[in-house]
Amino acid sequence: MKVAVLGAAGGIGQALSLLLKLDLPAGTDLALYDLAPVTPGVAVDLSHIPTAVKVTGYGKEDLHTALAGADVVMIPAGMPRKPGMDRSDLFNINAGVVKTLAEAIVQQCPKALVGIITNPVNTTVAIAADVFKKAGTYDARRLFGVTTLDVIRAETFVGELKGKNPTEVAVPVIGGHSGTTILPLLSQIAGVSFSDEEVASLTHRIQNAGTEVVEAKAGGGSATLSMGQAAARFCISLIRGLQGEAVTEYAYVEGDGEHARFFAQPITLGKNGVEALLPIGTLSAFEQKAMADMLDTLKADITLGEEFVKNN
Ligand code: NAD
Ligand code: LMR
Repeated sequence: MKVAVLGAAGGIGQALSLLLKLDLPAGTDLALYDLAPVTPGVAVDLSHIPTAVKVTGYGKEDLHTALAGADVVMIPAGMPRKPGMDRSDLFNINAGVVKTLAEAIVQQCPKALVGIITNPVNTTVAIAADVFKKAGTYDARRLFGVTTLDVIRAETFVGELKGKNPTEVAVPVIGGHSGTTILPLLSQIAGVSFSDEEVASLTHRIQNAGTEVVEAKAGGGSATLSMGQAAARFCISLIRGLQGEAVTEYAYVEGDGEHARFFAQPITLGKNGVEALLPIGTLSAFEQKAMADMLDTLKADITLGEEFVKNN
């Protein structure tokens, strides 16, 4: 197996790469690529950790070598938010970054499973999909917007509120990855009930958790450590799927289009990426309204990505 991390020298990239060095199966090659000159040094640093995962660093000119033959590509490359910005404000810079990286994937590892972390995820996933489509390599089962951070945050906040161990709480989170498009399904959590006020305030906190971190970091970026953990969990699930295990995760994928072309939902992962799209289940009246209210925003975010590829 080969896993490539694009944007590996950044805040998320370094945390993710550390966790992958620790947790990938023995014998995996871990290729770290970033424009930043420190990247080969990050790889040397990680390579001193005694696990049977071989780490190699690739600089600016070596994108194609880093990607050659990769089975899984994780992409946290690009600009993070500063206070006062929405994720959509990152579009102007990050759209081009994702397009460039997706074009290299087409050439070097068109069958890889690709996890997009770069914001705005609602839009960058559509960009990658349409770059692949234009090149004739698109397989919807192999492209994922990584929304695991929304899930782990929801689990943490529910655990805190209800005095439960968060590792024993499972919270479905559907929709997209920005503001109101992030929709936790609190009505579906086994063994926990909420008042109407708790549902409203918890939903709002989960939807704004990214902003909570951006403001707390006061200009120093957005979530990197929790995102590193979330991305590592998702990447390991992709690998377990490739190895033949049926693994359930939530991710932003092109499914049956019932709600929007791309939609975060439960999926079963397997040897070809998405093996099955799982139903989102029954929504409460609150969740049904929240879903109806956010779909126009989500669809507009997707259209922005589609138009970007069409016009570039
Ligand atoms: P960062 O600035 O710390 O790191 C980004 C890295 O990307 C830098 O090292 C930079 O050199 C590199 N980079 C930029 N352009 C590149 C290119 N063309 N090729 C390769 N590398 C390139 O930022 P970060 O905090 O790690 O965040 C990265 C992205 O992840 C941001 O867009 C952020 O909004 C997003 N993010 C997403 C989620 C999510 O839940 N999906 C969570 C947190 C952050
Ligand atoms: C997050 O949810 O933490 C990320 O999308 C980063 C951000 O800009 O909020």
